Amino acid sequence: MNFEQKNPIIKNIEILKTGNAPESSNDLLHRENEINKMEYHFSHVIQNIVPSNMLMFGEIGSGKTAMIKITANELKKEAEKRNINLTIHYINCNSEPTEMGILQQLVAQYNMHHSIKPQKIANSTSQYFHHYIKKINETNGIIIIILDEIDKMKPSNLLYNLSRVKENGFTDFNVCVVGISNNFLFEKERDPRELSSFRPTRITVPPYNTEQLIDILINKAEKALKPNTWDIGTITMCATRLSACKGDARSAIELLKTTAEIAEKTGKTALTENDVLIAEKELQHGTISTLLSNLPPQKTLMLLACMHNMYSNDETTTTKTAYQQYAKLCDAYGHETYTDRSFRTVLNEFEIEGLININKTSRGRARGIQNQISTELSIESTIDILTNALES
Ligand SMILES: Nc1ncnc2c1ncn2[C@@H]1O[C@H](COP(=O)(O)OP(=O)(O)OP(=O)(O)O)[C@@H](O)[C@H]1O
Ligand SMILES: [Mg+2]
Repeated sequence: MNFEQKNPIIKNIEILKTGNAPESSNDLLHRENEINKMEYHFSHVIQNIVPSNMLMFGEIGSGKTAMIKITANELKKEAEKRNINLTIHYINCNSEPTEMGILQQLVAQYNMHHSIKPQKIANSTSQYFHHYIKKINETNGIIIIILDEIDKMKPSNLLYNLSRVKENGFTDFNVCVVGISNNFLFEKERDPRELSSFRPTRITVPPYNTEQLIDILINKAEKALKPNTWDIGTITMCATRLSACKGDARSAIELLKTTAEIAEKTGKTALTENDVLIAEKELQHGTISTLLSNLPPQKTLMLLACMHNMYSNDETTTTKTAYQQYAKLCDAYGHETYTDRSFRTVLNEFEIEGLININKTSRGRARGIQNQISTELSIESTIDILTNALES
């Protein structure tokens, strides 16, 4: 065997990896307007004033996380230069969805930032909250708490309490909370009490258009790929295929990376349009497999029932017979059988996720309408993935 890498195309794969975010605002193309808005919002810090709360919305892969991290870093450097006491917390609520987890992170990050020795704290949210407040009072600086993917945060009193620290007499100053989300319904979906004192300035980040995505990809290709291995045709294809059509830079960059890897693996010295098509299929397959293997058990049983019926009935089934099959599978795997109504609700979700198609067909006047289910997925491999998920 020979593990020595032969890389006729790729110069630096790291540049194309998901975690490789631009480090300065100059590298973050086509976000000048939004960066300007943030500079304006956070300029208060330089005058030693706590900025007001902020909520940033934008579609998936529109550069929100990259932008807030760059802004936070540049703001920290400015504050240091001017001897301004500033602490910026960054917490991703997808990893820390509970109030307790977020408070523990705040305390841990604060201790680290100010080189404070950690103390033992009783395991209650209230103890953690008051411990954190005591700490920030002692150091008396400006606090900015960034809660990325804030829509993943479980309902709690955290936003309410943080927004009222000064009003409730816990501190002499407010703290600034920045929420980031790709769920535009975030505020509608929360209990109004939770957000009653939050009152943020809102910033909306538009999705990238095709020309902007092409610029981003060219910039990446120049750094990651060797000269004369790519052309504008393949780059344009990566920027315009289905996966990137919502202006999602993450998907477009991932498509370019997979294309380059496929071209190399198949012994080419430059990317071809066919490599883009193969890469796209590979990525779509990977995304669907991950989605299928991570469905909760009830949804797995429901989808498996549809797939079993379609397998033995000419690639189609009805909601009614699929429900009967689902009830049998629940018995076989020892799970509770949900109602017919819940079953139909979940099937509608599957349709939105593109896992099945539901067509209403008439069975003649007397017998009414029935829902006919079909799928564009490979039935056999879907059954394999779902069965493995249930049995693992
Ligand atoms: N303007 C840009 N220039 C270069 N790379 C970019 C740009 N915008 C986004 N990216 C890259 O695309 C990927 C997605 O960006 P980011 O994570 O900031 O998106 P997001 O809006 O936070 O998405 P999500 O809603 O899924 O959290 C990252 O790898 C990021 O580095
Ligand atoms: Mg993000």
